[in-house]
Amino acid sequence: MSDTSQTKNSQYYIELEDRHGAHNYHPLPVVIDKGEGVYVWDVEGKKYYDFLSAYSAVNQGHSHPKIVKAMTDQAQKLALTSRAFYNSSLGEFEKKITTLFGFDKVLPMNSGAEAVETAVKLARKWSYEVKGIAEDAAKIVVCENNFHGRTTTIVSFSNDPDANQNYGPFTPGFVKIPYNDLQALEETLAKDAANIAAFLAEPIQGEAGVYVPDEGYLKGAAELCKKYNVLFIADEVQTGIARTGKLIACHHEGVQPDILILGKALSGGMYPVSAVLADDAIMNVIKPGQHGSTFGGNPLACVIATAALDVVEEEKLSECAEELGKLFRAEMEKLISKTDLITKVRGKGLLNAILINDTPDSATAWNICLKLRDNGLLAKPTHGNIIRLAPPLVITEEQLLECVRIIEETVVAYQK
Ligand SMILES: Cc1ncc(COP(=O)(O)O)c(C=O)c1O
Repeated sequence: MSDTSQTKNSQYYIELEDRHGAHNYHPLPVVIDKGEGVYVWDVEGKKYYDFLSAYSAVNQGHSHPKIVKAMTDQAQKLALTSRAFYNSSLGEFEKKITTLFGFDKVLPMNSGAEAVETAVKLARKWSYEVKGIAEDAAKIVVCENNFHGRTTTIVSFSNDPDANQNYGPFTPGFVKIPYNDLQALEETLAKDAANIAAFLAEPIQGEAGVYVPDEGYLKGAAELCKKYNVLFIADEVQTGIARTGKLIACHHEGVQPDILILGKALSGGMYPVSAVLADDAIMNVIKPGQHGSTFGGNPLACVIATAALDVVEEEKLSECAEELGKLFRAEMEKLISKTDLITKVRGKGLLNAILINDTPDSATAWNICLKLRDNGLLAKPTHGNIIRLAPPLVITEEQLLECVRIIEETVVAYQK
């Protein structure tokens, strides 16, 4: 393979990654070179609708001008100080995010997994120092089929063999119960509440295939946690920041979690920024030197995240997601009535999935995604026969209806 610009087509970049990068992903064969709003372009200049939004990190659309400006202005001024010193961007961001989400304090980190780790540590520390659990006895209740990230501790409580096979020994202290099962939660808490620090859950299980729990599940879980003096931790890394039609998915049921985990779209996809939010009674257990990260809360991250949250408010992205999500599911229901290839559409706001009528180990969903790509729309299967559909929230009704048409034409042609 020569290195001249003439040969730098998609195949060139695919082979380059294949040769030099670890094979820990299986990307759809498309090489993206540019993005703007709801669109991305490949190396050959072909334009696509982005229906993955970097796993819901790009809710504000690709390269949102306001976020780009905040980022470039700040990059020229000051990027990183470490937390050894104060900086002139962190406090403003902290005030913005705590006010918007209604918590006393925020602890900024970088990736979603780091924020989950932070929440686990915070809950454990609270349970020893405030609740009074005996040393090293604290347990955290989690759900089957969860996805909270890739660190050693987090994969310790995954039940996906791809995520944890041969990565042991695992971190103890986690109890797994079925998702969307309040009875299982109540039984677990009733049996051992004295040793349980927290219940950790995704308000919608995104990676597992956009599983939306029954109405009342989040409210019921939060009430049970309160009854047993157990912290309710909501991992809204994927569902948060307007994706499901509310600022956080918990708000659909009027729930304010004890600990809120955010990531992804907190930066509009521009930079890794994550955060853990809690009130003083919980957050104050962490004292100087007891947790941190060189990059967490850096000035660049803070101005980017502040701008990204401004965009969510100014452009009313929650309302857009709520309204267009209803339209999208209604259109998919119409399509389901016309085809045997799709059996179901489910989701909230603009976090949706369609279920393909084939076995999870079949290649049908993958092949449909290849055809969607050919027709100008990028999406990816999650867990075999499920295709997640999550465009940037800045999509217009007209664009969404064009995407519906692409999906419909692709599915109909595939079935022939
Ligand atoms: C619910 C949830 N939590 C945590 C994570 C991990 O985030 P990151 O990949 O930024 O570490 C993800 C990523 O998809 C997620 O969906």
